[in-house]
Amino acid sequence: MFDIQAVRAQFPALSNVPFTYLDSAATTQKPQAVIDAITHYYTQSNANVHRGSHSLTTQATTQFEQARETVCRFINAQSTKEIVWTRGATEAINLIAQTYARNSLKSGDEILISEMEHHANIVPWQLVATQTGAKIVKIPMTTDCQLDLDAYKARLTPRTKIVAISHVSNVTGTRHPIEKMIAIARQNNCVVVVDGAQGIVHETVDVQALGCDFYVFSGHKLFAPTGIGVLYGRLPLLEAMPPWHGGGKMVHKVSFEGTSFSDLPGKFEAGTPNVAGSIALATAINWLQGIDMQHAEQHITRLQHQAYQGLSAIEDVTVIGYQEQASVISFVIDGVHHQDIATLLDQQGIALRAGHHCAHPFMDALDIKGTVRASFALYNNMDDVQKLISAVEKAADML
Ligand code: ALA
Repeated sequence: MFDIQAVRAQFPALSNVPFTYLDSAATTQKPQAVIDAITHYYTQSNANVHRGSHSLTTQATTQFEQARETVCRFINAQSTKEIVWTRGATEAINLIAQTYARNSLKSGDEILISEMEHHANIVPWQLVATQTGAKIVKIPMTTDCQLDLDAYKARLTPRTKIVAISHVSNVTGTRHPIEKMIAIARQNNCVVVVDGAQGIVHETVDVQALGCDFYVFSGHKLFAPTGIGVLYGRLPLLEAMPPWHGGGKMVHKVSFEGTSFSDLPGKFEAGTPNVAGSIALATAINWLQGIDMQHAEQHITRLQHQAYQGLSAIEDVTVIGYQEQASVISFVIDGVHHQDIATLLDQQGIALRAGHHCAHPFMDALDIKGTVRASFALYNNMDDVQKLISAVEKAADML
Protein backbone atom coordinates (compact mmCIF):
# COMPACT_ATOMS: atom_id res chain seq x y z
CA MET A 1 0.00 0.00 0.00
CA PHE A 2 1.01 3.63 -0.48
CA ASP A 3 2.71 4.92 2.67
CA ILE A 4 2.04 8.67 2.78
CA GLN A 5 4.17 9.24 5.89
CA ALA A 6 7.19 7.58 4.31
CA VAL A 7 6.76 9.53 1.07
CA ARG A 8 6.23 12.85 2.82
CA ALA A 9 9.36 12.37 4.93
CA GLN A 10 11.41 12.32 1.72
CA PHE A 11 10.56 15.97 0.93
CA PRO A 12 12.67 18.23 3.16
CA ALA A 13 10.91 21.43 2.04
CA LEU A 14 7.61 20.18 3.48
CA SER A 15 9.03 20.34 7.01
CA ASN A 16 11.38 23.29 6.44
CA VAL A 17 8.92 25.86 5.11
CA PRO A 18 6.07 27.10 7.30
CA PHE A 19 3.44 26.47 4.62
CA THR A 20 0.85 23.94 3.68
CA TYR A 21 1.96 23.42 0.11
CA LEU A 22 -0.99 23.10 -2.27
CA ASP A 23 0.62 24.43 -5.44
CA SER A 24 2.08 21.32 -7.06
CA ALA A 25 0.46 22.04 -10.44
CA ALA A 26 2.74 25.11 -10.55
CA THR A 27 5.79 23.16 -9.44
CA THR A 28 6.33 20.14 -7.23
CA GLN A 29 8.59 19.98 -4.20
CA LYS A 30 11.70 17.81 -4.66
CA PRO A 31 12.52 14.54 -2.91
CA GLN A 32 15.86 14.19 -1.13
CA ALA A 33 17.00 11.72 -3.82
CA VAL A 34 16.76 14.46 -6.48
CA ILE A 35 18.46 17.05 -4.28
CA ASP A 36 21.24 14.52 -3.59
CA ALA A 37 21.65 13.79 -7.31
CA ILE A 38 22.27 17.48 -8.03
CA THR A 39 24.73 17.80 -5.14
CA HIS A 40 26.50 14.60 -6.17
CA TYR A 41 26.84 15.75 -9.76
CA TYR A 42 28.32 19.13 -8.84
CA THR A 43 30.58 17.75 -6.12
CA GLN A 44 31.77 14.59 -7.88
CA SER A 45 31.43 14.67 -11.65
CA ASN A 46 30.81 18.14 -13.02
CA ALA A 47 32.18 18.52 -16.54
CA ASN A 48 30.89 19.57 -19.93
CA VAL A 49 29.40 16.82 -22.09
CA HIS A 50 30.22 15.63 -25.62
CA ARG A 51 33.30 17.88 -25.52
CA GLY A 52 36.81 17.62 -24.17
CA SER A 53 39.03 14.62 -23.84
CA HIS A 54 39.36 13.86 -20.14
CA SER A 55 37.74 11.11 -18.10
CA LEU A 56 35.50 13.49 -16.19
CA THR A 57 33.77 14.63 -19.37
CA THR A 58 33.37 11.00 -20.43
CA GLN A 59 31.77 10.23 -17.08
CA ALA A 60 29.43 13.25 -17.28
CA THR A 61 28.51 12.38 -20.88
CA THR A 62 27.70 8.79 -19.88
CA GLN A 63 25.40 9.96 -17.08
CA PHE A 64 23.79 12.56 -19.35
CA GLU A 65 23.04 10.00 -22.08
CA GLN A 66 21.88 7.43 -19.52
CA ALA A 67 19.38 10.05 -18.35
CA ARG A 68 18.08 10.28 -21.91
CA GLU A 69 17.68 6.49 -21.95
CA THR A 70 15.70 6.67 -18.70
CA VAL A 71 13.30 9.21 -20.27
CA CYS A 72 13.07 7.10 -23.43
CA ARG A 73 12.01 4.01 -21.42
CA PHE A 74 9.73 6.09 -19.17
CA ILE A 75 7.53 7.21 -22.07
CA ASN A 76 8.22 4.13 -24.22
CA ALA A 77 9.75 6.03 -27.13
CA GLN A 78 11.31 3.87 -29.84
CA SER A 79 14.73 5.47 -29.71
CA THR A 80 16.79 7.93 -27.67
CA LYS A 81 17.04 9.93 -30.90
CA GLU A 82 13.42 10.87 -30.28
CA ILE A 83 14.22 12.49 -26.92
CA VAL A 84 15.37 16.10 -27.12
CA TRP A 85 16.31 18.02 -23.97
CA THR A 86 14.71 21.44 -23.64
CA ARG A 87 14.31 23.98 -20.85
CA GLY A 88 10.73 22.83 -20.33
CA ALA A 89 7.40 22.15 -22.03
CA THR A 90 7.12 25.76 -23.20
CA GLU A 91 10.43 25.68 -25.03
CA ALA A 92 9.56 22.31 -26.54
CA ILE A 93 6.30 23.65 -28.03
CA ASN A 94 8.13 26.70 -29.38
CA LEU A 95 10.69 24.39 -30.98
CA ILE A 96 7.95 22.41 -32.74
CA ALA A 97 6.22 25.60 -33.87
CA GLN A 98 9.40 27.21 -35.21
CA THR A 99 10.80 24.15 -36.95
CA TYR A 100 8.12 21.64 -37.90
CA ALA A 101 5.20 24.08 -38.21
CA ARG A 102 7.06 27.03 -39.70
CA ASN A 103 8.41 24.85 -42.47
CA SER A 104 5.28 22.88 -43.25
CA LEU A 105 2.37 25.32 -42.84
CA LYS A 106 1.05 27.31 -45.77
CA SER A 107 -1.38 30.17 -45.97
CA GLY A 108 -4.91 28.92 -45.28
CA ASP A 109 -3.78 25.86 -43.29
CA GLU A 110 -5.36 25.50 -39.86
CA ILE A 111 -4.08 24.72 -36.36
CA LEU A 112 -6.74 23.35 -34.05
CA ILE A 113 -6.35 24.25 -30.35
CA SER A 114 -8.76 23.93 -27.45
CA GLU A 115 -9.78 27.01 -25.52
CA MET A 116 -8.79 25.16 -22.35
CA GLU A 117 -5.09 25.44 -23.16
CA HIS A 118 -2.33 27.07 -21.16
CA HIS A 119 -0.84 30.10 -22.98
CA ALA A 120 2.24 27.96 -23.69
CA ASN A 121 0.09 25.89 -26.04
CA ILE A 122 -1.56 28.90 -27.70
CA VAL A 123 0.95 31.71 -28.18
CA PRO A 124 3.68 29.70 -30.02
CA TRP A 125 0.98 28.67 -32.52
CA GLN A 126 -0.23 32.24 -32.91
CA LEU A 127 3.35 33.34 -33.64
CA VAL A 128 3.84 30.70 -36.32
CA ALA A 129 0.37 31.39 -37.75
CA THR A 130 1.40 35.03 -38.28
CA GLN A 131 4.65 33.92 -39.92
CA THR A 132 3.00 31.44 -42.31
CA GLY A 133 -0.49 32.78 -42.94
CA ALA A 134 -2.02 29.77 -41.20
CA LYS A 135 -5.16 30.20 -39.09
CA ILE A 136 -5.88 29.20 -35.48
CA VAL A 137 -9.19 27.41 -35.00
CA LYS A 138 -10.63 26.99 -31.52
CA ILE A 139 -12.13 23.84 -30.03
CA PRO A 140 -14.71 25.18 -27.56
CA MET A 141 -15.36 23.74 -24.13
CA THR A 142 -18.65 22.79 -22.52
CA THR A 143 -20.08 24.56 -19.46
CA ASP A 144 -18.83 21.71 -17.25
CA CYS A 145 -15.25 22.30 -18.44
CA GLN A 146 -14.99 19.36 -20.81
CA LEU A 147 -13.60 19.66 -24.27
CA ASP A 148 -16.47 19.67 -26.80
CA LEU A 149 -15.66 16.53 -28.77
CA ASP A 150 -18.45 17.07 -31.32
CA ALA A 151 -17.12 20.54 -32.07
CA TYR A 152 -13.63 19.04 -32.37
CA LYS A 153 -14.83 16.56 -34.98
CA ALA A 154 -16.75 19.27 -36.84
CA ARG A 155 -13.81 21.68 -36.92
CA LEU A 156 -11.27 19.10 -38.01
CA THR A 157 -11.22 19.54 -41.79
CA PRO A 158 -8.79 18.84 -44.63
CA ARG A 159 -7.36 22.32 -43.91
CA THR A 160 -6.36 21.23 -40.36
CA LYS A 161 -2.66 20.39 -40.31
CA ILE A 162 -1.86 20.46 -36.59
CA VAL A 163 -3.88 19.62 -33.49
CA ALA A 164 -2.37 20.92 -30.23
CA ILE A 165 -3.97 19.68 -27.04
CA SER A 166 -3.05 19.40 -23.40
CA HIS A 167 -3.20 16.01 -21.75
CA VAL A 168 -4.68 17.49 -18.55
CA SER A 169 -5.92 21.05 -17.91
CA ASN A 170 -3.91 23.07 -15.38
CA VAL A 171 -7.04 24.99 -14.37
CA THR A 172 -9.50 22.23 -13.49
CA GLY A 173 -7.52 19.03 -13.88
CA THR A 174 -9.84 17.93 -16.71
CA ARG A 175 -8.26 14.99 -18.50
CA HIS A 176 -8.86 15.34 -22.22
CA PRO A 177 -9.81 12.29 -24.32
CA ILE A 178 -6.44 12.42 -26.06
CA GLU A 179 -6.53 8.81 -27.30
CA LYS A 180 -9.77 9.44 -29.19
CA MET A 181 -8.60 12.85 -30.42
CA ILE A 182 -5.29 11.49 -31.70
CA ALA A 183 -7.01 8.63 -33.52
CA ILE A 184 -9.43 11.03 -35.24
CA ALA A 185 -6.64 13.49 -36.11
CA ARG A 186 -4.52 10.76 -37.63
CA GLN A 187 -7.38 9.62 -39.88
CA ASN A 188 -7.30 13.21 -41.11
CA ASN A 189 -3.50 13.15 -41.58
CA CYS A 190 -2.93 15.83 -38.95
CA VAL A 191 0.10 16.06 -36.74
CA VAL A 192 -0.81 15.95 -33.03
CA VAL A 193 1.13 17.77 -30.33
CA VAL A 194 0.32 16.81 -26.73
CA ASP A 195 1.28 19.17 -23.91
CA GLY A 196 1.88 16.65 -21.15
CA ALA A 197 3.05 19.09 -18.46
CA GLN A 198 0.14 18.30 -16.12
CA GLY A 199 -0.61 14.79 -17.37
CA ILE A 200 2.61 12.82 -17.11
CA VAL A 201 2.79 13.40 -13.35
CA HIS A 202 -0.39 11.43 -12.78
CA GLU A 203 -0.39 8.57 -15.26
CA THR A 204 1.89 6.31 -17.24
CA VAL A 205 2.51 7.68 -20.70
CA ASP A 206 3.24 5.39 -23.62
CA VAL A 207 3.86 7.59 -26.65
CA GLN A 208 3.76 4.66 -29.06
CA ALA A 209 0.42 3.44 -27.74
CA LEU A 210 -0.93 7.00 -27.81
CA GLY A 211 0.23 7.46 -31.39
CA CYS A 212 0.89 11.18 -30.96
CA ASP A 213 3.54 12.87 -33.08
CA PHE A 214 4.94 15.05 -30.32
CA TYR A 215 4.64 14.86 -26.53
CA VAL A 216 6.26 17.49 -24.30
CA PHE A 217 6.72 17.91 -20.57
CA SER A 218 8.67 19.81 -17.92
CA GLY A 219 10.86 18.25 -15.26
CA HIS A 220 9.89 20.62 -12.48
CA LYS A 221 6.30 19.39 -12.30
CA LEU A 222 7.65 15.84 -12.07
CA PHE A 223 9.73 16.28 -8.88
CA ALA A 224 12.83 17.34 -10.86
CA PRO A 225 14.46 20.80 -10.98
CA THR A 226 13.38 23.76 -13.07
CA GLY A 227 15.09 24.41 -16.40
CA ILE A 228 14.90 20.88 -17.80
CA GLY A 229 12.20 19.48 -20.06
CA VAL A 230 11.62 16.97 -22.80
CA LEU A 231 10.48 17.07 -26.36
CA TYR A 232 9.49 13.66 -27.70
CA GLY A 233 8.99 13.58 -31.46
CA ARG A 234 8.45 10.71 -33.89
CA LEU A 235 11.76 10.03 -35.61
CA PRO A 236 10.72 10.71 -39.25
CA LEU A 237 9.32 14.09 -38.23
CA LEU A 238 12.38 15.10 -36.20
CA GLU A 239 14.66 13.96 -39.01
CA ALA A 240 12.85 16.14 -41.54
CA MET A 241 12.77 19.20 -39.29
CA PRO A 242 15.44 21.88 -39.71
CA PRO A 243 17.44 22.92 -36.64
CA TRP A 244 16.20 25.77 -34.46
CA HIS A 245 18.95 27.31 -32.32
CA GLY A 246 22.41 27.40 -33.86
CA GLY A 247 25.66 26.89 -31.96
CA GLY A 248 28.08 24.28 -30.70
CA LYS A 249 27.22 20.57 -30.62
CA MET A 250 24.33 20.83 -33.11
CA VAL A 251 26.76 20.84 -36.03
CA HIS A 252 28.70 18.23 -37.93
CA LYS A 253 31.05 20.60 -39.82
CA VAL A 254 31.09 24.37 -39.91
CA SER A 255 32.74 26.41 -42.62
CA PHE A 256 32.06 29.82 -44.10
CA GLU A 257 30.82 28.08 -47.22
CA GLY A 258 28.15 26.24 -45.26
CA THR A 259 27.39 24.13 -42.22
CA SER A 260 26.19 20.55 -41.92
CA PHE A 261 24.23 19.53 -38.87
CA SER A 262 24.51 16.79 -36.24
CA ASP A 263 22.39 13.71 -36.15
CA LEU A 264 19.48 13.52 -33.75
CA PRO A 265 19.00 14.51 -31.05
CA GLY A 266 22.09 16.78 -31.09
CA LYS A 267 20.67 18.79 -34.00
CA PHE A 268 18.23 20.41 -31.56
CA GLU A 269 20.62 20.81 -28.63
CA ALA A 270 22.83 23.82 -29.34
CA GLY A 271 25.12 25.00 -26.56
CA THR A 272 26.02 23.45 -23.23
CA PRO A 273 22.94 21.60 -21.99
CA ASN A 274 21.51 21.37 -18.49
CA VAL A 275 23.52 18.29 -17.54
CA ALA A 276 22.67 18.36 -13.83
CA GLY A 277 18.99 18.90 -14.69
CA SER A 278 18.92 15.90 -17.05
CA ILE A 279 20.55 13.64 -14.46
CA ALA A 280 18.20 14.93 -11.76
CA LEU A 281 15.17 14.36 -14.00
CA ALA A 282 16.25 10.75 -14.54
CA THR A 283 16.66 10.42 -10.75
CA ALA A 284 13.15 11.82 -10.25
CA ILE A 285 11.77 9.30 -12.77
CA ASN A 286 13.57 6.40 -11.07
CA TRP A 287 12.31 7.65 -7.71
CA LEU A 288 8.73 7.90 -9.00
CA GLN A 289 8.91 4.40 -10.45
CA GLY A 290 9.63 3.12 -6.95
CA ILE A 291 6.26 4.49 -5.76
CA ASP A 292 3.01 2.57 -5.94
CA MET A 293 1.47 5.05 -8.37
CA GLN A 294 -1.93 3.41 -8.52
CA HIS A 295 -2.44 3.85 -4.79
CA ALA A 296 -0.76 7.27 -4.83
CA GLU A 297 -3.29 8.47 -7.40
CA GLN A 298 -6.17 7.02 -5.38
CA HIS A 299 -4.81 8.95 -2.40
CA ILE A 300 -4.68 12.20 -4.43
CA THR A 301 -8.25 11.68 -5.66
CA ARG A 302 -9.42 11.16 -2.06
CA LEU A 303 -7.79 14.48 -1.10
CA GLN A 304 -9.49 16.23 -3.98
CA HIS A 305 -12.90 14.74 -2.96
CA GLN A 306 -12.32 15.85 0.62
CA ALA A 307 -11.49 19.37 -0.64
CA TYR A 308 -14.56 19.41 -2.86
CA GLN A 309 -16.87 18.38 -0.05
CA GLY A 310 -15.43 20.85 2.43
CA LEU A 311 -15.19 23.80 0.05
CA SER A 312 -18.56 23.39 -1.62
CA ALA A 313 -20.24 23.36 1.82
CA ILE A 314 -18.96 26.90 2.50
CA GLU A 315 -21.49 29.62 1.72
CA ASP A 316 -20.78 31.56 -1.50
CA VAL A 317 -18.01 29.18 -2.61
CA THR A 318 -18.42 27.75 -6.11
CA VAL A 319 -16.13 25.00 -7.35
CA ILE A 320 -15.29 25.53 -11.03
CA GLY A 321 -15.42 22.54 -13.38
CA TYR A 322 -15.25 19.85 -10.70
CA GLN A 323 -13.82 16.58 -12.02
CA GLU A 324 -14.46 13.15 -10.53
CA GLN A 325 -10.79 12.30 -10.76
CA ALA A 326 -8.26 15.10 -10.67
CA SER A 327 -5.42 16.50 -8.61
CA VAL A 328 -6.66 20.06 -8.87
CA ILE A 329 -9.60 22.01 -7.48
CA SER A 330 -10.46 25.53 -8.65
CA PHE A 331 -12.99 27.72 -6.89
CA VAL A 332 -14.34 31.25 -6.56
CA ILE A 333 -16.17 33.07 -3.78
CA ASP A 334 -19.11 35.20 -4.94
CA GLY A 335 -18.29 38.88 -5.09
CA VAL A 336 -14.70 38.44 -3.87
CA HIS A 337 -11.56 38.90 -5.93
CA HIS A 338 -9.50 35.68 -6.16
CA GLN A 339 -6.31 37.51 -5.17
CA ASP A 340 -7.92 38.75 -1.93
CA ILE A 341 -8.76 35.16 -1.02
CA ALA A 342 -5.23 34.00 -1.86
CA THR A 343 -3.74 36.78 0.28
CA LEU A 344 -5.84 35.75 3.28
CA LEU A 345 -4.92 32.10 2.71
CA ASP A 346 -1.25 33.01 2.45
CA GLN A 347 -1.50 34.80 5.80
CA GLN A 348 -2.82 31.53 7.22
CA GLY A 349 0.09 29.56 5.79
CA ILE A 350 -1.62 28.08 2.72
CA ALA A 351 0.46 28.21 -0.47
CA LEU A 352 -1.64 27.99 -3.62
CA ARG A 353 -2.19 29.81 -6.91
CA ALA A 354 -4.85 32.39 -7.72
CA GLY A 355 -5.39 34.14 -11.02
CA HIS A 356 -6.02 33.24 -14.64
CA HIS A 357 -3.50 30.36 -14.49
CA CYS A 358 -1.97 31.45 -17.83
CA ALA A 359 -5.26 30.48 -19.47
CA HIS A 360 -7.07 33.69 -20.48
CA PRO A 361 -9.30 32.00 -23.09
CA PHE A 362 -10.41 29.44 -20.46
CA MET A 363 -11.35 32.29 -18.09
CA ASP A 364 -13.10 34.18 -20.90
CA ALA A 365 -15.16 31.09 -21.80
CA LEU A 366 -16.41 30.95 -18.20
CA ASP A 367 -16.73 34.75 -18.05
CA ILE A 368 -14.57 34.99 -14.93
CA LYS A 369 -11.32 36.81 -14.26
CA GLY A 370 -9.66 34.03 -12.30
CA THR A 371 -9.98 31.28 -9.73
CA VAL A 372 -8.24 30.11 -6.60
CA ARG A 373 -6.57 26.78 -7.34
CA ALA A 374 -5.38 24.17 -4.89
CA SER A 375 -3.37 21.36 -6.43
CA PHE A 376 -2.37 18.15 -4.71
CA ALA A 377 0.62 15.84 -5.04
CA LEU A 378 1.37 12.46 -3.54
CA TYR A 379 2.99 14.09 -0.48
CA ASN A 380 -0.13 15.97 0.64
CA ASN A 381 -2.31 14.53 3.39
CA MET A 382 -5.82 14.96 4.79
CA ASP A 383 -4.53 17.40 7.36
CA ASP A 384 -3.33 19.71 4.54
CA VAL A 385 -6.80 19.63 3.02
CA GLN A 386 -8.49 20.30 6.36
CA LYS A 387 -6.22 23.31 6.87
CA LEU A 388 -7.24 24.60 3.44
CA ILE A 389 -10.95 24.20 4.20
CA SER A 390 -10.65 25.92 7.60
CA ALA A 391 -8.60 28.77 6.10
CA VAL A 392 -11.14 29.30 3.29
CA GLU A 393 -13.99 29.31 5.87
CA LYS A 394 -12.16 32.00 7.81
CA ALA A 395 -11.36 34.03 4.68
CA ALA A 396 -14.99 33.81 3.52
CA ASP A 397 -16.15 35.10 6.92
CA MET A 398 -13.75 38.04 6.76
CA LEU A 399 -14.57 39.09 3.19
N1 ALA B 1 1.66 26.04 -15.64
C1 ALA B 1 1.86 26.16 -14.23
C2 ALA B 1 0.57 26.35 -13.47
O1 ALA B 1 -0.46 26.02 -13.96
C3 ALA B 1 2.87 27.18 -13.89
O2 ALA B 1 0.60 26.87 -12.38
